[in-house]
Amino acid sequence: MPFTPRVFSGVQPTGQLHLGNYLGAVRRFVAMQDDYPCIYCVVDLHAITMWQDPKELIDATYSVTAAYLAAGIDPKKSIVFNQSRVTAHAELAWIFNCVARMGWLNRMTQFKEKAGKDKENASTGLFVYPNLMAADILAYQATHVPVGDDQKQHLELTRDIAQKFNHDYAERLAELGYGEDGLFPMTEPIIQGPATRVMSLRDGSKKMSKSEASDASRINLTDDADAIAQKIRKAKTDPEPLPSDVKGLEGRPEADNLVGIYAALASTTKEAVLTDHGGQGFSAFKPALAELAVEVLAPMNAEMRRLLDDRAHLDAVLTDGAERAHAIAAPILRDVKRVVGFVS
Ligand code: TYM
Repeated sequence: MPFTPRVFSGVQPTGQLHLGNYLGAVRRFVAMQDDYPCIYCVVDLHAITMWQDPKELIDATYSVTAAYLAAGIDPKKSIVFNQSRVTAHAELAWIFNCVARMGWLNRMTQFKEKAGKDKENASTGLFVYPNLMAADILAYQATHVPVGDDQKQHLELTRDIAQKFNHDYAERLAELGYGEDGLFPMTEPIIQGPATRVMSLRDGSKKMSKSEASDASRINLTDDADAIAQKIRKAKTDPEPLPSDVKGLEGRPEADNLVGIYAALASTTKEAVLTDHGGQGFSAFKPALAELAVEVLAPMNAEMRRLLDDRAHLDAVLTDGAERAHAIAAPILRDVKRVVGFVS
C-alpha cells in the first residue's frame, strides 16, 4: 500500500463516556500509539447532529479530552484535538455529500436507530453524518480506524466513498500524477479484542449506550468505586455457574458480556478468564469483576478530575493538536480541490 500507515478515530462529546466507549475504543487507541502515528479527535461537529446544549457541549469536549489523556493517550506523541477547530473536516464532508448516494445513506442502521419514528424531524446533518465521518478519516488518508462494532457499517461506507471518488476522478488523478491507488486509501476498521460490543448491564441484548434511560445499565467513567461495585452486583445474569470454555457462553448473553468485560479490563482473552473462573457462580465472579473494574477505572477517574481542573492545559493540548492536524490535512485537501476542479 503506498499510503503511510496512520490511525484516526473519534468519540462524540455527548454525555458521559461509559465502559463500552473505553473498552471498545479508547483503550484500543492507547494501545495503537506505540505502533502508528495516531490522530484522536473529539467529534463536536458530529455531536450537533442531535440537539446539544452549548454549555454542556463544550464541557463534554473537555471531558472527552480529559478521558483520552487519563486513559493514557500521550498528546505529545498522538494528535488530540476537537473536530470543529480544523475546517478540512467540514470542507471535505461537503465534497463527500456530493459523492455518496442517497441509497447508501438510506441503508445506515444508526440513522434509523437515532432518528427513531420521527424521521421527518431528524436533522439533515444526522442523515449525512457518515459522510462527515468519512471526511474525518480521509482528510488524513488514515489507513486504520479502531472502533467498536457499532461503527462497522460507517467504515464500510467510508471505503465506498473513497472508492467512488478514486473511480469518478480517475482520469484527473492520472493527469495529476496519481498512481492506481488514487487519492484515498481503503481504510481498514480495527474492531478487535474481547469487548468490541459491550452490552447493557440490565439487558444482554442491548448495547451499553449513553442514551439508555437507566443509569444502572452502564458504568460511566466518572462513577466512583461504590457505584461501580453496586452496578456490577446488580447486573442481570442467569443462575448457572460460568462455563469452562467460550463455547459454553453461547446463548448466555449476560454471562458472555461480563466475561468479555473482565477479559478486556485484564488485557487478556475470554478463554483465559474462563480457565481461571470457569465453574464459579456469579456471587464469586461479580466481586472479582468489581474489584478489577475499580482497580482499572479509579486511577483514571482521579486523573480525569485532576485534568478537568486545569482547562488551560486541556486547551493547550487541543490548540497544539489542531495545528498539527491541520498541517497534515491541508495539503491533502489542497490536492482534493485540484482533483475536483476548484483550483488548477
Ligand atoms: P461514539 O461517540 O458513539 O462512540 C465512541 C467509540 O466507542 C465505541 N462504542 C462501543 N464499543 C463497545 N461497546 C459499546 N457498547 C460501545 N458504544 C460505543 C464506538 O464504536 C466508537 O468507536 N461515529 C462515531 C464517532 C466518529 C468516528 C469518526 C469514529 C466520528 N468520526 C471517525 C471513527 C472514525 C461515534 O459516534 O462514536
